[in-house]
Amino acid sequence: MNITNDTILEKGFLDLEIDPHLDLFAEIERLKKQKNAVLLAHYYQEPDIQDVADFIGDSLGLAQQASKTDADIIVFAGVHFMAETAKILNPSKKVLLPDLKAGCSLADSAPAPMFKAFKDKHPDHIVISYINCSADIKALSDIICTSSNAEKIIESVPKDQPIIFAPDKNLGAWLNKKSGRNMLLWNGACMVHEIFSLEKITRLKIRHPKAKLISQPECEDAILRVSDYIGSTTQLLKFSESDSATEYIVATETGILHQMQQNSPHKTFIPAPPTNSCACNDCPHMKLNTLEKLYLCMEYEQPEITMDETLRLAAKKPMDRMMEISRAAGLIG
Ligand code: 13P
Ligand code: SF4
Repeated sequence: MNITNDTILEKGFLDLEIDPHLDLFAEIERLKKQKNAVLLAHYYQEPDIQDVADFIGDSLGLAQQASKTDADIIVFAGVHFMAETAKILNPSKKVLLPDLKAGCSLADSAPAPMFKAFKDKHPDHIVISYINCSADIKALSDIICTSSNAEKIIESVPKDQPIIFAPDKNLGAWLNKKSGRNMLLWNGACMVHEIFSLEKITRLKIRHPKAKLISQPECEDAILRVSDYIGSTTQLLKFSESDSATEYIVATETGILHQMQQNSPHKTFIPAPPTNSCACNDCPHMKLNTLEKLYLCMEYEQPEITMDETLRLAAKKPMDRMMEISRAAGLIG
């Protein structure tokens, strides 16, 4: 069957019928070997996808894996900017994303033309951008960071150098507080981390007085202020393993609870509730990927991430800088 990106453009994914008797876990394992493909999954993916992945990680860990793989195909179970990052680092490899419409509200909050106009108004500033942004924004940046390495990246810049931080205002404000800087913040936010309810979390804490609140720094200041620990997804996972408490309220996307529970089966993990009527907080973009879409994308090698080479080279420069600083700080091997 000849399937091109055009045939999936409208829906963003392949929707061919799958034999209901197929063991999708076994099929995905078979396809990995047959095609020399590596499957990278973010912690926010559904548990089935995490269980079949070769590597599960946060944004920094996945970028590192993408930069050192010798596979011919990178299948990225995550969102568009993550697969795009893998392509920036690996132009010769085929990069697949199970659903091309798996976007990111945070990345969307920084449209490149508006950001360029903002940047042009502040020519003395350098730009540090959170990896959760498009390749166009990366190309307008001097250094990229993730929530795992942001503090070290900022420390690497001379104190008197003015900085624009984009696109996440909550992460930027938290970094300003920690570093004592006054970075100019782009007004973007993540729809998942921004809607945790302080009131509901406070009520949960009353019912679970021994539970620690652990939060991702994309959360609003009101949540971060009452948190016992703040860190990237990987840092939250590691903290939950090494810390002595046995109960945690987790203020980030619920996908991470799968690994937390697996690694610490004797502990209790409670998803922090959002302000809407849901009990937990799923990222609607991350959760567009399913096991079925993953299987079809590996079988037909579509949808594929492609990128203009001039844009790729411009976006790679600040990524390389991030990798260098992270390596020097001992954050990656
Ligand atoms: P990290 O992977 O750096 O923890 O970021 C979380 C996130 O929101 C990814 O989309
Ligand atoms: Fe984007 Fe937030 Fe979803 Fe992460 S959790 S992909 S930052 S919308």
